[in-house]
Amino acid sequence: MWSFKIPLLALAPLASAFRLPYSRFTARDYVNGETLASAYDFVIAGGGTAGLSLASLLSANSNFTVLVIESGDIGPDQISTSLRCAFHDLPTHVYLDTPAYTYFKSLFHSSYDYAYDTVPQPSAGGRNVYWPRGKVLGGSSAINGMYLIRPNEIEVDAWHDMISSQPNADQWSWDSLFATMKDSEAFTPPTDAAVQTAGMQWNSASHGTSGTVHHTYPAYMVPLTRHWLPTLEAAGITLNPDAYGGKTTGGFFALSAINPSNWTRSYAKPAYIDPLPPRSNLHILVNTTVTRIVFNSSSSGLQATAVEFSTGRNSATQSVQVGKEVIVSGGSVNSPQILQLSGVGPSDVLAAAGIETQLDLPGVGTHLQDHISAGVWFKSNEDTQGNIYNSGSNISNTPEFLSFINSGTAYVNATTLFGVDGATTMLQTIRDNMTSFAGTTGTGSNNAQVIEGFKAIYNTTGEKFFSSEVGLVELLFSINVPGQVAVQAAIQHPFSQGRVYINTNSAFDPPLIDPQYFSHWADVVTMREGLKLARQIAQTPPLSTALGSEVTPGPSVVTDDDWDNWLKNNGGTEFHPTSTCAMLPMDQGGVVDNKMKVYGTLNVRVVDASIFPFSFAAHTTAPLYGVVQKAAEVIQNDYAPTTGGNNGTPDNNVNSPGGSTSQGNGANKASNVLVSVWVLGLVSLVLAILF
Ligand SMILES: Cc1cc2nc3c(=O)[nH]c(=O)nc-3n(C[C@H](O)[C@H](O)[C@H](O)COP(=O)(O)OP(=O)(O)OC[C@H]3O[C@@H](n4cnc5c(N)ncnc54)[C@H](O)[C@@H]3O)c2cc1C
Ligand SMILES: *[C@@H]1O[C@H](CO)[C@@H](O)[C@H](O)[C@H]1NC(C)=O
Ligand SMILES: *[C@@H]1O[C@H](CO)[C@@H](O)[C@H](O)[C@H]1NC(C)=O
Ligand SMILES: *[C@@H]1O[C@H](CO)[C@@H](O)[C@H](O)[C@H]1NC(C)=O
Ligand SMILES: *[C@@H]1O[C@H](CO)[C@@H](O)[C@H](O)[C@H]1NC(C)=O
Ligand SMILES: *[C@@H]1O[C@H](CO)[C@@H](O)[C@H](O)[C@H]1NC(C)=O
Ligand SMILES: *[C@@H]1O[C@H](CO)[C@@H](O)[C@H](O)[C@H]1NC(C)=O
Ligand SMILES: *[C@@H]1O[C@H](CO)[C@@H](O)[C@H](O)[C@H]1NC(C)=O
Ligand SMILES: *[C@@H]1O[C@H](CO)[C@@H](O)[C@H](O)[C@H]1NC(C)=O
Repeated sequence: MWSFKIPLLALAPLASAFRLPYSRFTARDYVNGETLASAYDFVIAGGGTAGLSLASLLSANSNFTVLVIESGDIGPDQISTSLRCAFHDLPTHVYLDTPAYTYFKSLFHSSYDYAYDTVPQPSAGGRNVYWPRGKVLGGSSAINGMYLIRPNEIEVDAWHDMISSQPNADQWSWDSLFATMKDSEAFTPPTDAAVQTAGMQWNSASHGTSGTVHHTYPAYMVPLTRHWLPTLEAAGITLNPDAYGGKTTGGFFALSAINPSNWTRSYAKPAYIDPLPPRSNLHILVNTTVTRIVFNSSSSGLQATAVEFSTGRNSATQSVQVGKEVIVSGGSVNSPQILQLSGVGPSDVLAAAGIETQLDLPGVGTHLQDHISAGVWFKSNEDTQGNIYNSGSNISNTPEFLSFINSGTAYVNATTLFGVDGATTMLQTIRDNMTSFAGTTGTGSNNAQVIEGFKAIYNTTGEKFFSSEVGLVELLFSINVPGQVAVQAAIQHPFSQGRVYINTNSAFDPPLIDPQYFSHWADVVTMREGLKLARQIAQTPPLSTALGSEVTPGPSVVTDDDWDNWLKNNGGTEFHPTSTCAMLPMDQGGVVDNKMKVYGTLNVRVVDASIFPFSFAAHTTAPLYGVVQKAAEVIQNDYAPTTGGNNGTPDNNVNSPGGSTSQGNGANKASNVLVSVWVLGLVSLVLAILF
């Protein structure tokens, strides 16, 4: 026995890495071209963060048949992927599931990343800025930084106010979204070890425990984290002991989407799909791209009758019939693309791309907002996570250590950034400048309705966020790089708005992304003051005692001009694009109404991060999971009103052709095929372990 001990131990990580995907290989939900039914009640375009989660919630009603069509692959469950990678490094699922590998084995530019680039940004050094987006079941939640942060209640109530002209607008108020964000949440307090190191605080009353998206802190906190909260306090930034109940200003450690039972990433797929029992009414079709929604036009609006899809640019187009609705969940880049390819969007854009207009909806793709981020970097005198990872020390390969990801956070408001007088003066100039920015340059559209929406967002940003406690800059404590530490600053409420638009008629061509970074001067000023504050924090003890000299941008950047020049050439995306299918009144270039229904259609909704009317001072997934829970309620209520429902009748007269004829059979066939693959995989697994 003893002679086997060393080799067995050496193989143990490999073995456990292999065991996991097979136990999670829930084949039943996946279909291919042969096992697909001819029609489904709900066809969801995009199996990402929102689309996949919504599919789970809708298919809980066994009366609904649901099909998810996802461009990317299944992801970690895939045997072929696991085996392919195992022979050179680790199975792909380990990259994706292990929090620390977000940095050390990044999936950027992998097959799970669209790896978009923006068009050249004239006010950001003329650069094409890299924009990763998840292309795999679970979407961007499978490749993101796992921060779970909720917006401030002032922001969510401002969203409500922007659409309060419509009935039942209260569903988008803070109280309502707070409740559904908690519904999505499975909160676990931090470990004692984590609290001892980092000193995080929390208030259990602000959290939910019955949901499926795990919200917790890493098991292990890198010792450097002990400096974050005391340094913020010493720099005059108040600490926030309860950042999840609607007040987000100040410093705290953010929750991360980590499952504490095995310290793995909790994203849309393990949270909403993997734990489900077999459901014959839920089908998932991967490696397949939605190319178009097919409409039938009637006097009351466009009715989606079918969805077309294809596995590649040169492959045949197939289609499924739509019984009830199409739900577009392609994310902020691809949802406007899908609508535009279907003839729903600004008619000039459609004409230029050779698409026949079905519905001239000028707002589709506009009002794009994003957070821009950059960091001030210092040499570290203490070990960072990267140093420990590379050291090969006895903790560096444990699941607890590998659960560490950055989470030191602070939101700072206008008066902290600009001073009381500075904030007042700046807001007045921002007001004075609204009209001059609300033209083609500022909005990316000369459509009068889109311009009204630009103004509504601009005005809300100025009047409600620049004059309140709401964070305008987010500071993040970044300690994963070997030898260096950063305090990063990211603007949260940009005045610059851009757009996403197609320039060909193919779903296999990337749409053009133009965020118009820094096209409004206030974004430059906010970013600059945020970066100055980041530098100042790093120069404040106790953190300053752990740091050496400034590496980036370095001591030569001193004046406002120096900063502006540097940040325009170095600011990148914080990965939070929103608002390209904004929930706004139609006469403000809105794309969806307050039930997420696309204006002018009878049965198409958008459910994803593109519907937020403006950017929040938060990361996107926590509010998005709340939106998904809300969407499921709204849709369920439209078709199967409960006693609490409003009027007892569905809000449209779309008939269900009961389109699930071959469904049960299809699902069974699919599982037979996949079970044989499973057995084959098991055999290979044994071989892999032996050799
Ligand atoms: C690198 C990175 C880091 C991030 N860090 C964080 C973070 O730490 N915390 C946080 O809260 N947020 C973070 N975000 C943002 C957050 O992950 C996204 O805003 C959110 O996941 C978007 O969800 P979604 O449902 O709108 O879109 P996605 O999750 O991107 O889903 C869209 C899905 O649609 C599919 N699709 C697109 N077009 C088609 C088509 N034509 N046919 C079929 N399928 C299609 C895509 O493949 C994808 O799976 C990060 C994002 C990235 C990319
Ligand atoms: C982690 O544990 C959960 C159960 O809590 C399980 O569903 C999931 O598949 C596990 N993840 C991995 C990668 O083992
Ligand atoms: C499913 O439909 C049946 C028959 O219309 C109805 O009685 C039942 O309540 C529905 N179930 C749900 C969960 O809505
Ligand atoms: C998806 O496509 C990839 C690349 O062609 C392939 O390796 C993988 O097996 C496909 N997945 C499924 C479920 O067919
Ligand atoms: C399209 O609508 C017309 C009535 O406007 C109807 O007769 C026809 O059946 C519809 N076609 C489809 C495919 O639903
Ligand atoms: C790692 O080694 C140190 C001493 O070098 C010891 O104190 C610690 O308990 C060890 N930790 C683990 C997880 O083995
Ligand atoms: C912004 O407003 C100020 C006056 O407050 C004015 O001097 C400046 O020219 C305006 N800038 C733009 C771009 O409109
Ligand atoms: C701007 O916002 C304020 C505060 O919400 C509101 O009172 C005002 O009517 C808005 N003005 C415009 C032009 O939208
Ligand atoms: C901004 O934040 C500071 C520090 O947290 C606080 O004292 C101040 O009141 C806030 N400003 C506003 C306008 O709320």
